[in-house]
Amino acid sequence: MDQFERLSQLPLRDDLRGQHPYGAPQIDVPVLLNVNENTFGVPLDAKEAILKAVADELDGLNRYPDREFTELRRALAAYLGHGMTQENIWAANGSNEVLQQLLQAFGGPGRKAMGFPPTYSMYPLLASGTGTGFVTGTRAADYSLSPESAAEQVRAQAPHIIFLCSPNNPTGTALGRDVVEAVYEAGEASQAIVIVDEAYMEFSHEGTPSALSLLPGRPRLVVSRTMSKAFALAGARVGYMAAAPEVADAVRLVRLPYHLSAITQATAVAALRNSDSLLANVEAIKIQRDRIVDELTRIGLTPAPSDSNFVFFGGLEDPRSVWEGLLAAGVLIRDVGIAGHLRVTAGTEQETTAFLSGLRAILAT
Ligand SMILES: Cc1ncc(COP(=O)(O)O)c(C=O)c1O
Repeated sequence: MDQFERLSQLPLRDDLRGQHPYGAPQIDVPVLLNVNENTFGVPLDAKEAILKAVADELDGLNRYPDREFTELRRALAAYLGHGMTQENIWAANGSNEVLQQLLQAFGGPGRKAMGFPPTYSMYPLLASGTGTGFVTGTRAADYSLSPESAAEQVRAQAPHIIFLCSPNNPTGTALGRDVVEAVYEAGEASQAIVIVDEAYMEFSHEGTPSALSLLPGRPRLVVSRTMSKAFALAGARVGYMAAAPEVADAVRLVRLPYHLSAITQATAVAALRNSDSLLANVEAIKIQRDRIVDELTRIGLTPAPSDSNFVFFGGLEDPRSVWEGLLAAGVLIRDVGIAGHLRVTAGTEQETTAFLSGLRAILAT
């Protein structure tokens, strides 16, 4: 009997039977461009500051940490600006956990969440884990989402929670503020919590609006962010949200006590104090992102416009063999399961060169 068969004999919840866990490949190759990390790493001055902050915590490690992570919430509010205060902020171990807590508080059995695929693959998984139903909306053929279409679909489905991802993963494109406004209004009837997932916002082109400016007067709106991408801290697991203070109160009802460790809090606060240094590579990444879009266009592929640190591109006859060819050349990118398409993270100049020259060689054969 294999492990899968043994699993099926356990008294697992019926709704989890046959499901597959999140599983982006973790393969040890020289160039890792598959999960949209910041490949520049943590700069030395930030590393030293984090090391010192963590060392300072060790004396008190026998005690539980500040359950309210007050200093971190204050630092995150200051980073976001837009008139945010610590009352507006909530954080957890990655924005995935923030999203899970929102589903625990506002979703659950008998309720449904809604997303607009292709979008972040964790939304339906998080819904399933919390016993929340999930309905999928549709986009136009070019993957865009108009305010009219989104609002009409929300009215038809009357969901309890709506996920808008901007810039969207995997397509990379940001949504207009008009889409968020229209969806929020359309969600009035079902009192929907509207989550705008801005995990990649720091990489957007100048002038791309954040939904943060829409928060005043919209108590059901939540903007989710992360330190995993622009801040180069995916390994530290820090995500956060900005919303009306009562949304944080709702999440307090479901969070585990002391869910953010003292080490995590110290790391994140030190990182925020060194945000200039940590975010210094964002511009370099944007240059590589734009370089990928230009180069892929030049070789006859169809990259989507990107406001993120990755590029979604089509025009491939056999994406699986391109993915495999790149892997054989030591470059791991992402097959997101969309016909004719692949997704690649913008890395350092050298990593981007490795990807582009590997791809050119594969397409030439
Ligand atoms: C759109 C989007 N949201 C959220 C996340 C989760 O990030 P984290 O849990 O590391 O904050 C990711 C990670 O890839 C993402 O692409």
